Amino acid sequence: MNILGIETSCDETAAAVVRNGTFVLSNIVASSLKEHAQHGGIIPEIASRRQLEFIHAITERSLAKAGLKLKNIDAVAVTNQPGLIGSLLVGISFARGLSFAINRPLIDVNHIEAHAYANFLEFSGTQTGEKKPRKKPELPAIALVVSGGHTNLYHIKAFDRFRLLGQTLDDATGEAFDKVAKILGLGYPGGPAIDRLAKKGANTTIRFKSAALPDTYDFSFSGIKTAVLYHHRDHEHHKEFSTAKTAYSFQDSVVSILAKKSISACRKLKIKTLVVGGGVAANTALRAKLNDEASRYDINVYFPLLSLCTDNAAMIAGLGFHRRNERSAQ
Ligand code: KG4
Ligand code: ZN
Repeated sequence: MNILGIETSCDETAAAVVRNGTFVLSNIVASSLKEHAQHGGIIPEIASRRQLEFIHAITERSLAKAGLKLKNIDAVAVTNQPGLIGSLLVGISFARGLSFAINRPLIDVNHIEAHAYANFLEFSGTQTGEKKPRKKPELPAIALVVSGGHTNLYHIKAFDRFRLLGQTLDDATGEAFDKVAKILGLGYPGGPAIDRLAKKGANTTIRFKSAALPDTYDFSFSGIKTAVLYHHRDHEHHKEFSTAKTAYSFQDSVVSILAKKSISACRKLKIKTLVVGGGVAANTALRAKLNDEASRYDINVYFPLLSLCTDNAAMIAGLGFHRRNERSAQ
């Protein structure tokens, strides 16, 4: 079964074809990120206008790369929430029209759940550039999705049964990285910049604290963001002020709380598989911390290929396969 996935929830316009929910035949992404960088954050008006310009060509390229024609597509899956409404509308309207035109079902897919699903996708060896085939995670699993817009912890019993255990009460993890990077003058998006710079700042006594919110799987990052703001305001003109050390301490605290709650969910629910997804899953400190903590408790932790951490349509088409019966109210 070939499913065409369409993803337009933010600044990426993406189309992909996935076979039987697993094999990625094509995965094409266009992004307007560079245009937003000069504004220090996503401008919804720009994002949705670019979606309109890109969506047709990206879909055609995705079909061509998969070596398929529209008549070979068995269903269309589209991100229906959450996201910027102007951007979402482009993808949803396009997918709806397409599914009607080719008389194939339309499947709605939740973007955040799809980020977790990215771990279950497979490429042929030549597509990934990796020598060994990747080990596939097994269900049940705990999923941590950390992106620019969301921080959710799920218990996945089956691909049509995601149970939300906790989420951020304010800023998303990536949003906190982006805002702290802005305070430190590191540009946008800030996550990769903090990740790189923090490697030079490990030797520090600065300690920032992320909110613990004990006895819940919820997160809060607005307090630590304000702590960095005040630290920067009060120390930036001191000789010993170090942007790298500030970045390290912020990242270390955020990564620690993410790891603590994810591992704790695995242990409490007696689950041996932890999958991580979303843009922040690319963070090297988060990967190291989770690998380290998971190995202590005999938990297997999985991260998607870097190209599948950020927004893409392969994850939408893949999860769509398991949601065929839910369909969409076209
Ligand atoms: O999943 P994504 O592409 O978009 C959303 O759905 O939000 O995530 C983008 C977010 C941005 O906030 C970016 O700063 C963050 O992911 N990010 C990182 C890293 N790479 C991207 N954050 C920390 N470390 C990274 N290496
Ligand atoms: Zn995303």
